Amino acid sequence: MQRSGVKITIVGTGMVGASTAFAIMAGGLASDLVLVDIDHKKAEGEAMDLGDAAAFIKPLNIYAGTYEDVKDSQIVIFTAGANQKPGETRLDLLHKNVAILKDSMPRLVKHCPDAVYLMVSNPVDVLTYVALKITGLPANRVFGSGTVLDTSRFKDELSSYCGVDPRNIHAYIIGEHGDSEVALWSTASIAGMGLSQFTPLLGLAPVDRQEIARRVRTAAYEIIQRKGATYYAIALSIKRICEAILRDENSILTVSGLINGLYGINDVCLSLPCIVNGNGRDKVLTVPLSVEEEEGLRNSAQVLKQAVRQAGF
Ligand code: NAD
Ligand code: LAC
Repeated sequence: MQRSGVKITIVGTGMVGASTAFAIMAGGLASDLVLVDIDHKKAEGEAMDLGDAAAFIKPLNIYAGTYEDVKDSQIVIFTAGANQKPGETRLDLLHKNVAILKDSMPRLVKHCPDAVYLMVSNPVDVLTYVALKITGLPANRVFGSGTVLDTSRFKDELSSYCGVDPRNIHAYIIGEHGDSEVALWSTASIAGMGLSQFTPLLGLAPVDRQEIARRVRTAAYEIIQRKGATYYAIALSIKRICEAILRDENSILTVSGLINGLYGINDVCLSLPCIVNGNGRDKVLTVPLSVEEEEGLRNSAQVLKQAVRQAGF
């Protein structure tokens, strides 16, 4: 049955793509959900399994498609490609996933030039840059999930330590979605107070900043070592970004996108707090940074520039 409404395509229906499809379906965000995978049978199986939930969800037309079926999608989510094996970094995936992107992006854009393209495959910042270069689409419509997931991990760590609902914590991870990411301690706040003002209120010792930043940075490695991949929290991160776009929410999310002329950084994709709405990644916020944080961000930019060069861009 054809329905008018919101069409979303997910390219790559592995662990991340399938979990994202589940999150979007359960959240009732789309009327049409297209699953595209080089392994078409896998996409078909996922669509059939998800489709069996029909009696428990808002009406949803979910099916395995080809690149042509991407037509008229509002959002295309890119989760295709290799994931990290235990011990591998995100940057180790560079060449494999750039090759997949070079093949897929032109075909996607040919059939769907007006969508917002949300990059998720790793290394996500580099792939976002490459996708922008390949497609020539505007930077507000091609961006990555970036450190949205890391920011959630940061809030979770602070929540556990402070005993406060993570949704009441304002704190960001910026820079690379990877080993050079930067925790923004100088602007982290709970109930309008900086952390050094808040923790004594509850009789807590000062936060061990190094340890918390380390736990956030290494979270994915710890999970991959135990179960081979991460997918549930990224799926909900993607759903959250889609929601901000589709509902024109003006939400502040640390998505990854092109930076030109901020903090002395040019021509690289990385995460900063951004306003996300119906235009996609609409505005980047130049938040105040401590000297140390700004140095960390510039270091992250250098790491990513080097990776982009290695990818031949
Ligand atoms: P997976 O191996 O389970 O799935 C990858 C899927 O991509 C497979 O189904 C495969 O058939 C498909 N694929 C490969 N080449 C394709 C092509 N040319 N066209 C269409 N589909 C193709 O991997 P996963 O665990 O789902 O991870 C996917 C990606 O997401 C990885 O790069 C991983 O590192 C990344 N990831 C990113 C974040 C983040 O925060 N940005 C979080 C978790 C995972
Ligand atoms: C993450 C992936 C692996 O969970 O990038 O952070």
